[in-house]
Amino acid sequence: MTKSHSNQCQPAIFDRNSRQHLFIEFIQRPGASAGAMSSAMAALAAVESGNVKPVLAFSPALCQLLGYEVEFPDFSLEGVVPATQADLLVWLQAEHRSDLFDVAMAMRSIVDEHFSVQLEQDGFVYHDMRDLTGFVDGIGNPEGDKALAAAVIPEGQPGAGGSFVFGQLWRHDLAAFNELDVSEQENVIGRTKVDAVEFDSERMPADAHVGRTDTDHDGVPQKIWRRSVPFGNSSQHGLYFLAFSCEWQRFDYLLRRMYGMTDDAVRDRLISFSSPQTGSYWFAPTQSMLAGL
Ligand code: HEM
Repeated sequence: MTKSHSNQCQPAIFDRNSRQHLFIEFIQRPGASAGAMSSAMAALAAVESGNVKPVLAFSPALCQLLGYEVEFPDFSLEGVVPATQADLLVWLQAEHRSDLFDVAMAMRSIVDEHFSVQLEQDGFVYHDMRDLTGFVDGIGNPEGDKALAAAVIPEGQPGAGGSFVFGQLWRHDLAAFNELDVSEQENVIGRTKVDAVEFDSERMPADAHVGRTDTDHDGVPQKIWRRSVPFGNSSQHGLYFLAFSCEWQRFDYLLRRMYGMTDDAVRDRLISFSSPQTGSYWFAPTQSMLAGL
């Protein structure tokens, strides 16, 4: 592996070509030695994935066991939302669910000795990358170098080349959301519904989701790279929110803005129509960190 290749992040983080997704959150069973865990994670990273694009990410405790220098806390928002810190995230993307199934089974045979499953959730790209509310989700992501700057820990910092990851499963109350007429739905989000045009500052309601999350903190734009996908069926549905950042603190600040925990105390109106059920922080190491396990 060349030096330039060595610090590369896991490429599937930025690959938006697959419509089928699978998220598996694992909890570590007690007792595995650092050596056994490194071997298991090395074997996991080496699974022949074929058409499936995997991303692996580890909790603070697992990072410590694996000897990564990066430091960050378990997820928590002062008890305001569920905090269900899991130790290992496996995120798989593919064109076909059959391929996801095959790779998930191969991975399970490696990790089951050391981990139990906390959550296994499939997801899918809905129409042209819309959330189940019908609004395009991800269009406000930064692009090109700005995406890398938002998502990847810079050179010189612990974990350089990797990313902090935030995963949160949200359940929607679509019946309540769909009772609003479209212009009121647009006020909840802060963009138009059909063509996803962001409201200008005059039109943006103080409690619109984009108004709360398109923000600076101490002069620094709180940009993150979002890869959320919808899940569910006609009975139960929602969004597996997944985002990558160069700083875990950005997730915390954005959530505080959404939950009225910043000085202006404004709550994001979106949270009247959807509620988080889980929440974890992880670190997604670079390719070479995985290869070095
Ligand atoms: C039910 C949960 C959520 C839904 C349905 C949702 C949906 C959306 C939609 C439709 C947009 C506008 C389109 C776009 O900019 O891509 C958006 C923007 C955004 N959301 Fe969310 N979101 C959810 C949760 C969250 C959470 C938990 C965070 C942060 C922790 C977040 C952060 C952002 C950011 C940073 C933007 C872009 C703002 C900008 O324009 O710079 N969202 N979201």
